[in-house]
Amino acid sequence: MTIENENQLEKLKQVGHVVAATMTAMARAMQVGMTTRELDGFGRALLEREGARPAPETTYAFPGATCISVLPAIAHGIPGEQVLRAGDLVNIDVSADIDGYYADTGGSFVIPPVPEKIERLCRDGKRALWSGIKAVKPLGKLNEIGRAIQTFADKNRYTLIRNLASHGVGAALHEEPGHIPTWFEPRDARRIPEGLVFTIEPFLSTGSHLAIDGDDEWTLLADGGHPTVQYEHTLVVTRRGPVVLTIA
Ligand code: CO
Ligand code: CO
Repeated sequence: MTIENENQLEKLKQVGHVVAATMTAMARAMQVGMTTRELDGFGRALLEREGARPAPETTYAFPGATCISVLPAIAHGIPGEQVLRAGDLVNIDVSADIDGYYADTGGSFVIPPVPEKIERLCRDGKRALWSGIKAVKPLGKLNEIGRAIQTFADKNRYTLIRNLASHGVGAALHEEPGHIPTWFEPRDARRIPEGLVFTIEPFLSTGSHLAIDGDDEWTLLADGGHPTVQYEHTLVVTRRGPVVLTIA
């Protein structure tokens, strides 16, 4: 959506805070021996308490309140009987609406012990996200986001998953202006209108380039199984620049 007033901004900040706080609390609650279904149930309760409805479920009839993906799964993992183990790299993606205002956030977390290479990947995944956020300018070109993220990835010898894009959000989970690449697309001439609400969510990897279908109809895996992280914020572009809405 493209917001036009302060009331819409407040509504989006409210739901943005709820999804971010839920994701953070879920990450802190992770324990060896817990199932991903238990972790999802914990997240669902937090959303319900705040009057937020889980967007994957209401939008796509996804079988869970949140997406929990354990490497080699990187996205759209279905909460279930999978037991969390020491060293697992876990992506938690939380999206929800309150009164028809949607926000979407995600992050990757490791259950200790954390190998140094994975710790660095997590740190750099956040840096990749922020390099994209800093490239957002009102009326600027949308592909500057992907250019900045790809420049960061190339410089630090990472790969990007190139078939999972960012997207418009706000009045629905996925909406106008459609896919927003987190890699450089020179031919994309679209500009960022003031008030646009959208996500930035690069998937940074130590070697994978594509998300491929897993064993069920939802789960996506990293091709080759290389460690891959995703960090996602929902933001709105104001006259003064980007404002991140998904703040815990
Ligand atoms: Co998400
Ligand atoms: Co998203």
